[in-house]
Amino acid sequence: MVDDERHLEATVPSYIMESAREGARLEAKTDPAVSEQQLRQTGLQRGMRALDVGCGTGAVTRTMAKIAAPGRVVGVDTSTSRLAQARELAAADGVEAEFMEGDACCLSAALGQLRLRVVPVSL
Ligand SMILES: C[S@@+](CC[C@H](N)C(=O)[O-])C[C@H]1O[C@@H](n2cnc3c(N)ncnc32)[C@H](O)[C@@H]1O
Repeated sequence: MVDDERHLEATVPSYIMESAREGARLEAKTDPAVSEQQLRQTGLQRGMRALDVGCGTGAVTRTMAKIAAPGRVVGVDTSTSRLAQARELAAADGVEAEFMEGDACCLSAALGQLRLRVVPVSL
């Protein structure tokens, strides 16, 4: 077992895919052109408000924000480190998106009251 894995075991991740390399994996597996095509199929358009639950590093959220600008796009994830990466990457890409720590099971606590239309897209 390598040191990374020992550290992760000690911190007991509740997310089964957790890994020190998970952020890099999420970025590598995401093709923004494919994401854009899929997101447009959901009906996402300029000026809309959209929520990305389990946004990870925001690889998909950034494309959502580009499509929906000047709307409002919020990414929610339980992982503090993933969200830190998401904020950095969005800023580097010049993208306006908000990232909040929250659990899919109790979104109202993170976001307040929202009326949602749910469109499951990816994982
Ligand atoms: C496979 S990753 C996908 C990330 C992103 N949607 C993408 O496609 O790049 C799943 C993400 O869901 C997050 N997650 C897992 N359980 C969650 C929960 N209960 N509430 C919010 N986020 C959660 C993880 O931290 C992880 O970043």
